[in-house]
Amino acid sequence: MKEMTRREFVRTVAVGGAVLTLGDAVLHKPLEAFASGKVDIGQCKSVRIRCISELGWFDNKNLVTTLTGGKGPEESQWEKPWDYKNGAGSSTLIDMETLNGRHHRFLLDTGWNREYMDECFKREKIDRMLEHGEIEFLVISHEHLDHYWGLETTLRYNPEIRIYIPSTFYPEGMKLLAGADYKTAGVKNSIVHGGKLIKCQPGHINKLYDGCALVAFDLPIVIRVRGEQSLYFNVKDKGIVCVTGCCHQTILTFADFARKRLQGGENLYGLYGGLHIVPFGPMTPEAEKMVAGMGKYGFKKVACNHCTGLPAVKRMVELGYPVVKGSGKFGSQSDFYVGNGDEIVFG
Ligand SMILES: [Fe+2]
Ligand SMILES: [Fe+2]
Repeated sequence: MKEMTRREFVRTVAVGGAVLTLGDAVLHKPLEAFASGKVDIGQCKSVRIRCISELGWFDNKNLVTTLTGGKGPEESQWEKPWDYKNGAGSSTLIDMETLNGRHHRFLLDTGWNREYMDECFKREKIDRMLEHGEIEFLVISHEHLDHYWGLETTLRYNPEIRIYIPSTFYPEGMKLLAGADYKTAGVKNSIVHGGKLIKCQPGHINKLYDGCALVAFDLPIVIRVRGEQSLYFNVKDKGIVCVTGCCHQTILTFADFARKRLQGGENLYGLYGGLHIVPFGPMTPEAEKMVAGMGKYGFKKVACNHCTGLPAVKRMVELGYPVVKGSGKFGSQSDFYVGNGDEIVFG
C-alpha cells in the first residue's frame, strides 16, 4: 500500500470513526453509542445528489433470461453469461456541505457497462472531477453487476481513489480490484486499484464526516451477493436523509435502523436511490405491503429510482407520498422519479 501522506493522515484521524490498518485493507472502527443506545453522527448543512445514471440495464427481458437461466437466481453472478451490451449501471455523485461551508464530494457506485459509464461520466464531468482529485472516494453499495462491475471507468480517471466496500465481498469482487477478466460474465478491469481500501463491517456505524455515516447490512442477495451498505446524512433543521444503491436490506430495515440507532433518527426527512421493490414487473402483494409500510416514516422528500420499479413509484404518488419528479432524460424510463442527469438537494 502506498505510504499515507501527512494530509491523508490528518484527514483520516479527523473523521469520527478511527481507521484500523490490516495489511492492504482497513476497517472502520465504529462509533460508540451513548447511554441512550443511539449514536450521534453530527450534523451537516445540506446534501446535493446528482444521478449520474440510475438505469441498471436497458432491457428487462434480456436480463431476466440470464438471471433465471443456468442454475437460476442462486447461481453466482460471476458464472452467468450476461449480455454486456444490455448493461448500463447505477452511479451517484454526492456533494455534502458541512456546517462550516466545506464541501465533500464522493461517488456511490460505479455502474456496469464501462463504455456506457464513461459516456455518463463525461456528460456529468465526473471524469475531470476524478482526475483533479475533486472526488474524495468511492463507496460501493454492494457487489451486484450494475453497481460494481464498471469499476474500471472510475479507476481510469483516478486509480488511487479511496474505496469503501462491505466486508462481506466475495473473492471474485476482491480480485476485480487488482485487475481481472471474467470471460463468462463479461466483466473485466485492467487497472489495478492503488488506493486505500476500507472494508465496513455489518451493523457498525461508520462516521465519514460530521453528519454523514455509512452502514453495512449483512444479508444474502440474489445471484450470490452478500451484504449492502447505505448512507445516512443528518441535515441540520431538516432530519435524516437515507441514501441507497439497491436497498436489498429493504427500506423498512434501512429506515428502522436510523430510528433505533441514530440520534435524530425519529425524524426521517429524505430518501434517495433504488429500493428494489418491483425491479422487473407489476406490483405484488409483498410490494404493496412494502410501499404502504414506508408511509409510517413520514419522509418529506422521496426520490426513488433504479430498481424501485415504476409501478412502485406510481403507487407512492397515489398514496400521497412526496415523490420528487425528474426530467426523464438521458435514457431514464420515466419523469416520475429523479433520473439520469437530474439533481436533488436535501437541506
Ligand atoms: Fe441495482
Ligand atoms: Fe442490487
